[in-house]
Amino acid sequence: MSTRRIAAAALLFTLAANSSLAESPRLGKSITEVEIAAWDLSILGDGTGLPSGSGTAAEGAAIYAQKCVACHGEGGKGGNNGAVVGGGPLDRIEATKTIVNFWGYPTTVFDFIRRAMPWQQPRTLSNDEVYALVAFIFAQNKLIGEKDAMNAQTLPKVKMPNRDNFIVRFPKEI
Ligand code: HEC
Repeated sequence: MSTRRIAAAALLFTLAANSSLAESPRLGKSITEVEIAAWDLSILGDGTGLPSGSGTAAEGAAIYAQKCVACHGEGGKGGNNGAVVGGGPLDRIEATKTIVNFWGYPTTVFDFIRRAMPWQQPRTLSNDEVYALVAFIFAQNKLIGEKDAMNAQTLPKVKMPNRDNFIVRFPKEI
């Protein structure tokens, strides 16, 4: 490349760099509080973030029959996809992990269903529906009574069977 062509290329580059500084690409728009709230769904183990609303196992059974049974099977025992009810002992590394034999926090079940289920239509369930589905799944797993309502107060108090079996590898980091 001749010196002149290099100089021309350098000049072009400088011009392009300067113009991009002067003018932003004007992509996107500012996000609103309402839009943030729709994505701010995380629920902590102590129940922080749980919305208002409530639901019982009986209500959940009806929703389950309509929106979940095709994939998770009758009574939640598993079908095309994993079981949400039952589970064998976690006695070997290949053992299937389920809600009742593995999950440490009851609130994760609410968080997961609300953000991810039904698989083909995530985030379409109302908070009452999610509480009802959690009540149904927990009652089927004998973690709560048939008549117990799940809501922001009762849900975090459900004791998961595997809760105390997690080993915190770096306790000082917490
Ligand atoms: C079209 C099939 C389909 C439907 C319908 C569906 N699910 Fe699922 N579900 C899945 C799949 C696939 C997974 C595994 C997802 C993953 O591991 O990321 C899953 C995982 C889950 C889990 C986590 C289970 C575990 O132990 O990891 C829960 C809880 C759950 N679904 C609840 C529901 C509920 C409640 C409904 C009804 C509102 C529902 N699902 C409807 C396919 C479905």
